[in-house]
Amino acid sequence: MRAALLLVVAVLVGTVVSVDVWWESAVVYQIYPRSFKDSNGDGIGDLNGITQKLAYLKETGVDAIWLSPIFLSPMYDFGYDITDYRKIAPEYGTMDDFDALMSKAKQLGIRVILDYVPNHTSNESEWFVKSAQKDPNYSDYYIWADGKTDPEDPRKLLPPSNWVSVFRKSAWEYSPVRKQYYLHQFVIGQPDLNYRCDKLREEMKEVLRFWLEKGVSGFRVDAVNLMYEVDPAKFGEVYPDEPVSGTAGTTPDDYDYLNHIYTRDQNETYDVIYEWRALLDEYNDKHNESKIMMTEGYTTLPNMMRYYGNKSINGSIPLNFAYLEELKNTSTARDIKMVVDKWMTFMPTGKIANWVNGNHDKSRLASRYGINRIDAMNMLAMILPGVTITYQGEEIGMTDGYVSWRDTKDPQACNTDDPMNYWRVSRDPARTPYHWDSTALAGFTSGNTTWLPVADNYHTVNLAAQVAAPKSHYKFYKDMVALKRLPAVRAGDLDLRALCDSVLVITRLLPGQSAVLGIMNLSGGEITVNLSSLRLIPQQLTVEASGVNCSLDKGAQVQKHSIQMPAHCALALKSSQICC
Ligand code: GLC
Repeated sequence: MRAALLLVVAVLVGTVVSVDVWWESAVVYQIYPRSFKDSNGDGIGDLNGITQKLAYLKETGVDAIWLSPIFLSPMYDFGYDITDYRKIAPEYGTMDDFDALMSKAKQLGIRVILDYVPNHTSNESEWFVKSAQKDPNYSDYYIWADGKTDPEDPRKLLPPSNWVSVFRKSAWEYSPVRKQYYLHQFVIGQPDLNYRCDKLREEMKEVLRFWLEKGVSGFRVDAVNLMYEVDPAKFGEVYPDEPVSGTAGTTPDDYDYLNHIYTRDQNETYDVIYEWRALLDEYNDKHNESKIMMTEGYTTLPNMMRYYGNKSINGSIPLNFAYLEELKNTSTARDIKMVVDKWMTFMPTGKIANWVNGNHDKSRLASRYGINRIDAMNMLAMILPGVTITYQGEEIGMTDGYVSWRDTKDPQACNTDDPMNYWRVSRDPARTPYHWDSTALAGFTSGNTTWLPVADNYHTVNLAAQVAAPKSHYKFYKDMVALKRLPAVRAGDLDLRALCDSVLVITRLLPGQSAVLGIMNLSGGEITVNLSSLRLIPQQLTVEASGVNCSLDKGAQVQKHSIQMPAHCALALKSSQICC
């Protein structure tokens, strides 16, 4: 089977060079370094903390870790505002620590993926400082524009356009040094880079090469659909106002007040992504592995699909946020099927699907779907074809932590200026420290403070307790990772059926191999599931993973026409005979 994953890309004087396309059916585990494990007692997670815990990740079975940004940064947006793409943030460690992490990961067979943030840097970046000073080498690196004179008061200057930051209020900030405004689609400290500048585009490629040379296995690429703004040359060298959206309840300070036709999803974006993909492919032979590239862009489905490229152009894997955005705790089996089918239907032939069940920007899986659906949603992400992306803590069912207004750190929440409503947009609850055990501060730190409070329920929801328990979300998750290695899950056909509103059955079938099935009962009552209508499934099935709400144990045998599914049970099965 492994041979099938090896893509022969070149024949060199008598030797065949094979490239391992390891990511086609991988489990990628997202680490938010600040909140994963603190090794030095300062209350902030760090690289050595991650290195200490790699053995646990190996035990869990993940293929790769994706590290949210670890680079030098003033941390206004917790690392997504980068001062120097080639330096490590001192609070996370040193380059030696990073090298040690890489070497330990390599030894354990875990690949490392970095977060690449191309839309903006920090305003403390040397590039920005020089750009503000109009240094000819950097002058065009950012989006600069003259202010407009206020028609009501000629002594007053207004921003170049009505554009609004994702985090609210004007997206333009005046630089007294350059005497012009710069664009920042996120916080004021995150000036937008100018991709119409050839030199900048080359510079950003060098950043990719720097980390590829260090042996990383790919990148998650941040906020790609905001990389380009409309070409001002088309509008007489000015940036035009965006039209008002008419969204109820919004004010001119709100992002949703406008239709972002000039600041998102510009056509030029896709070509840059294809160029970066080609750059990554230059390392195929050198490292004997294909690099992964996952792009973050909250946009329409057709726009998402353009990132994939087509038959002749390789693109990225556009992160699939349907799980986060289109499903909720009341979604029925039919709703879930529709969401999955949509992605599989629109995805260009030959490309790889992906399933994201959480990230550092969204409410946690257990809080979005309720604790009864933790196993079901983890199972779905694991049995479906393609890449499974797990945010740290989802494997043990962590819930959103409570973070008071006083403790709030997320700029998106702070920008609301509203102690009553900050929690509606705050991303802090999903970023509270990882629950390692039930000791003080969840075993996250040896110190006595943490940068965000630890969630109250760590005494009961923690890794150590779940490793010790006969049944747990973690054990189920780990069994599912093992199941994902089976040939049918790696390469089989997908058949997804909603047998009724409450029962979803996911089947993976590969001729000559055992069939693999996942069944979820989304209802609050016991159901006897009859799979006779799935004709290709052999009669006898073995339980491979049994969720916390199920009564059958791992290894139990069942017949396909009668499977007892208690309320909220998620069960993964394998056929004893080969199919089909
Ligand atoms: C992405 C990141 C988010 C960050 C933003 C700006 O959406 O996931 O955390 O705030 O980009 O870089």
